[in-house]
Order: sequence, then structure tokens, then C-alpha cells
Amino acid sequence: QAKYRAFAPIGLKDRTWPDAVLTKAPIWLSTDLRDGNQALVEPMDIARKMRMFETLVAIGFKEIEVGFPSASQIEFDFVRKLIEEDRIPDDVTIQVLTQARDHLIARTFESLQGAPRAIVHLYNAVAPVMRRVVLGMDEDQIVELASSHARMFNEFAAKQPNTRWTFQYSPEMFSGTDVVFSKRVVDAVTEVWAPTPERKCIVNLPTTVEHSTPNIFADMIEWMHRNLARRDSIVLCVHPHNDRGTGTAAGELALMAGAERIEGCLFGNGERTGNLDLVNVALNLYTQGVSPELDFSNIDEIRATVEHCNQIPVHPRHPYVGDLVYTSFSGSHQDAIKKAFAARKDGDIWDMPYLPIDPKDVGRSYEAVIRVNSQSGKGGMAYLLESEYGLEMPRRLQMEFMQTVQRVMDVAGKELTAADLWELFVREYGLE
Ligand code: KIV
Ligand code: ZN
Repeated sequence: QAKYRAFAPIGLKDRTWPDAVLTKAPIWLSTDLRDGNQALVEPMDIARKMRMFETLVAIGFKEIEVGFPSASQIEFDFVRKLIEEDRIPDDVTIQVLTQARDHLIARTFESLQGAPRAIVHLYNAVAPVMRRVVLGMDEDQIVELASSHARMFNEFAAKQPNTRWTFQYSPEMFSGTDVVFSKRVVDAVTEVWAPTPERKCIVNLPTTVEHSTPNIFADMIEWMHRNLARRDSIVLCVHPHNDRGTGTAAGELALMAGAERIEGCLFGNGERTGNLDLVNVALNLYTQGVSPELDFSNIDEIRATVEHCNQIPVHPRHPYVGDLVYTSFSGSHQDAIKKAFAARKDGDIWDMPYLPIDPKDVGRSYEAVIRVNSQSGKGGMAYLLESEYGLEMPRRLQMEFMQTVQRVMDVAGKELTAADLWELFVREYGLE
């Protein structure tokens, strides 16, 4: 029996919405080393990049965007190092990004000399504001910009026939663009690339900046899914950012709307408020009984590496990984958790109040689940003394000792650990 329940709309068990739940893992693409890296105050050096790459491989990512090789020497050198030192496992494909500009495309393909496989990712802006203010191009010129550079991809790839190429196109600022125009540009690019169901290309639709509610983005994805030419030869991908704090929701709804691949970063690093948080989406799937096919069974080790590579701390309230997310201080929560642990039998579905995931599944212990401060009740205190010191306290003793604990906490104004409680208990009752 599965440990986690696949939630259908609660209370409506006789109804099914085939697209209202996710039933399998998407194709994941980590862009920690590209979009994540380009947002760092101090971008990663080669050593940090390599450590991040190895961590991503260990988690189980099969597609990893490793950089923007035409953007800097470090980016170029890192791609060369991966290839020349044979660091790319056979089941992993690296991806690199380039803008639609001749010399950048040439440099990008140069960085990939000798790669066994590669995804080359072409982008140009399509939104009206970018057309008008930045590029100074009309719609026809944007279509020509995209398709002429797509043609360059064909030419460069033909010169490096020993690499297995996959091409990816992103209409940058898709979410701020009329879908009919986005379709026109994407169709022009895929006409040049002529993918087949056996050799697909990737079409990646970004919320470069998140402007709308996630359902609007999902509606746009569904429209593209239904209307793109050559849909059966395309892997449809999304690339949400998180400007409204709804990147995860946008990504999940987009998967329900027809996307089959998703791009993001670990713990939501990335430009401004970040990229879609891959860990959130993966563990959200996991807690609905769907294997994400990524391994987060030692989430603290992954977090430590990511904090080191990005030099940005992960927030203590970050879903699934923050220091405080498995902890209850409040007395009523502690009481419910204690009772649920006591009632739980091996093999039961995970149905614990206030704990959406078993902390042990991500390598956490139960130690942090109950912590005692001025918000806590006698149940939490008794739980800590019993679990850490084997002290079983009758209810009356709990009530009595809790008065002492409250007095101490009122003065100290801070949390008491199991050791503090034990010391207090020994002092109060004269035990050795
Ligand atoms: O957010 C974005 O639009 C991007 C593109 C380059 C895909 O990162
Ligand atoms: Zn991005």
C-alpha cells in the first residue's frame, strides 16, 4: 500500500477530473548552473559549478543546463571541462543557452566540440515591450530573427555530426505575449528544425516575469498544447519564475495543462524572486503518492551544498527543507501529533496532523518535531522527557512540573531543550 494519499478534490470522491491531479513525474531540467547562477551576487567559480553539477547528477537529473558558454570565459571553460574530462554520465545530457545572435551561436557550438550529446537552447524576446523598446523590431522581423538563427543551428550541428543534438527554443517573455504571435514564432522555428516524433525538439514557454495568476499561464500553455504545429514532434516545456510567489503553482497547473517538461532551480534560486522551485514540485508530487524520480532522501546534505554553491541561505520556513518546517511549538499541535504517532501502525498511510510529509523520508529525524517554548503545553514537555530520557510522567506530575517550566520560560523567554527540561526536573525533584 502506498504511504501517501493521492488527493482528489476532498469530499467529492465520486467525481474525477482527469487533468486535476498529476499522475507522473515530468521531465526535469535543472537550470541552477545557468539561470540560478546568473542571478548570484558572486557567480559560481568552476569548483562550485562542478560541485553543483555532481549534486544534480546524484539527485537524478538527466537534463542539466550547465551554462551560457558565450557569456564569459568561466562559462565556456566549464563546458569544456565537463566534456574534456568526461564528467557527463551516459544517461545525462547537458544543455547550454544562447541568444539569437550569430557570434554567440558560433561560440556556443565551439564550446560543445566533442560532446556526445547536447541540448542547445536558443532564445529571443517576443513580448511587445521588448519588440518596441529593446529590439526595435516588428512582428515579421521577430519571426525572421528566430527562424534565421534556428537555421544557423542546423548549419553548425551539421558540422559536428558526432554529437547527438537536441534543439530547444524559448520565446522569452512568453507570458507577456499574445499566444497567437508566440505560436507563429514557435511554428516558424520548428519548421526550420523539422523535428519528428522520433527526434523531437523542445519548446520551452517561460514566465520570464510572472505577471498573472497561475491559471492564466496554464490556460496559455493549454492553448499552445492544442494549437502548436508539429505538436507530436515537440517536448512541451515550461520555465516559471516566481515574481508573484506562485511559481510552483504555475508550474504544476502548466503540467496539468499539457506541458511534459519543467525547468527550475533547487530551492527556487534564480533571477529576482527566483525560478520555479524544483524541490517543491518534486516533493509535492511525492506527498501525493507519485514518485518524482529524484532523490531527496538526504535533503540537508543537498541544502548544505546548494547554500555553499550559491552563497545564499535557505529560509528556515522553506517548504520541506527549512530548519523549522517539521517543528511544532504550539501545545494543541503537539498534542495532536503525539496522539497520531501513538495511534500509527506500520504500513499505515501517512495521515499525520500538521506534518504533510514524514520527516524521515527526507532524512530528518523526529527530534525537531516537538520543541518547547512559551507557546507549548505539558504534552510537548512530557513527550521530550519521555522520548529523550525515558521518563514517563503521570498526568498530575506533568501538570505540576509544567508550572515550574512555565515560570522558568517566563523569565528566560526562550526555548527549553530536552536537556534543559531534564536538568530542571532533576533540580526540582532532587534526582540524580
Ligand atoms: O526566464 C526566461 O525567459 C529565461 C529564458 C532564457 C528561457 O530564462
Ligand atoms: Zn529564466
